[in-house]
Amino acid sequence: MGKGRILVVEDEAIVALGIQSSLERLGYEVAGRAATGSEALDLAEAARPDLVLMDVMLNGGGMDGIDTAQELHERFNVPVVYLSAVIDEKTLDRAKRTDPFGYIAKPFRDHELALAIEVALYKSRTEAQLQESEQLLATTLGSLAEAVVSTDTAGRVTYLNPAAAAMLGLEPESVLGLDVPSVFTILELDTRLPITGLEEICSPRAAHPMCEDMLLVTPAGLEVPVGLSVSPVLGPRGDFRGRVMVLRNVALRKQAEEELRESMQALRTAFRQTVRALASMAEKRDPYTAGHQQRVARLACAIGRELGLTPDALEGLEVAGTLHDVGKVYVPAEILAKPARLSHMEMGIMKSHSEVGFEILREVNFPWPVARCVLEHHERMDGSGYPGGLKGAEISREARILAVADVVEAMSSHRPYRAALGLNLALAEIRAGRGRLYDAESVDACLGLMDGGGFTFDEPDTCPPAPTPELSRRATPAAAEE
Ligand SMILES: [Fe+2]
Ligand SMILES: [Fe+2]
Repeated sequence: MGKGRILVVEDEAIVALGIQSSLERLGYEVAGRAATGSEALDLAEAARPDLVLMDVMLNGGGMDGIDTAQELHERFNVPVVYLSAVIDEKTLDRAKRTDPFGYIAKPFRDHELALAIEVALYKSRTEAQLQESEQLLATTLGSLAEAVVSTDTAGRVTYLNPAAAAMLGLEPESVLGLDVPSVFTILELDTRLPITGLEEICSPRAAHPMCEDMLLVTPAGLEVPVGLSVSPVLGPRGDFRGRVMVLRNVALRKQAEEELRESMQALRTAFRQTVRALASMAEKRDPYTAGHQQRVARLACAIGRELGLTPDALEGLEVAGTLHDVGKVYVPAEILAKPARLSHMEMGIMKSHSEVGFEILREVNFPWPVARCVLEHHERMDGSGYPGGLKGAEISREARILAVADVVEAMSSHRPYRAALGLNLALAEIRAGRGRLYDAESVDACLGLMDGGGFTFDEPDTCPPAPTPELSRRATPAAAEE
């Protein structure tokens, strides 16, 4: 690439030749010589020079140098350096308005010409790069789906990209120079309160760069859920020049989230109904224990909550409680409903319900250890339980909780072979077996709940159940389930 291709526009042929010689000496390529404005325009179109050296006082053709420079600039965007002898103030003023890249006073020497050309070419290239970056920026901002609003130091709007104009429903020019609050408002989505310190909260440098739960109120009063980030614009010396706000319309995402939430809720409801349907299958054959599993589930949940189980673990405990005796579907109805003590063989069949329940549930991919909990709900801390004779920590924590809830509910309720023994005797049983048969912390939590009025079997079926001052009071003699 050469140093530059220069078009010389000079009506005095000798001067023009002299300039051409100088340019060639200096290493420039002469793209052509024109003596009139129209010749200059034709040559510029054909040769596309990097720079035009233009005699201000051009004669002939009806256009002087200034008119020609103006047209060259408009048609070809080519930089012009004026060559002028002494000119009057009016002409100089006209020349200035064409935004030239330099002046050279005639007569001039080679180094003065070279200096003027190099400065002009440098300015021209810099300007072209600047225009290119501005074009890139404008295209980028115009292509963004996010709304971009910039403001000056006083918070007045200086720019809106097309997405911002569309989101706000206005023409950008109509709000330039207006204060942001007079154009739109940002509220917190949940509280609908204005937010102060957006710049600190929603800065890209903050922990959560995009504030997701905001509400944009447009000039027409429309409300748009938006995510928002606010960045300061700093000058070359770090001085504050204004702000740039980026707003993303999150209405569709919010709607999708809401639909997902509703769908999850529907699935959850269907899941709970399925679990209860499965539970009632066993209870249908054993009307004396109807509702036993749900009541156990509720008490187990209440104990679990006292022990600090997570909401997720409590949910698993509720499912395990609701299904803990599902294996009784295997036990013949005459054994379930037998109004007398069971024989050794009958008791063996009855005891198999833990393992049968485990077999039924093991294939279900619960997110909690439901099957294990069901298998272990008759294990006892000293190893005297069944079916595995597990001891202490060998028994899962959920199963230890469930065992306490099971005994308390069973003893409090009517059984085919006996009347209800009552809550007091049930509590006396777990107190007596604390640490030996029953998990100590579960017993303590259960006793605390019952003594403190934190639980009653009569409350609606929720997990974890809400505390209530009401107590379920029944009083008669005791014995554990089965
Ligand atoms: Fe059981
Ligand atoms: Fe039970």
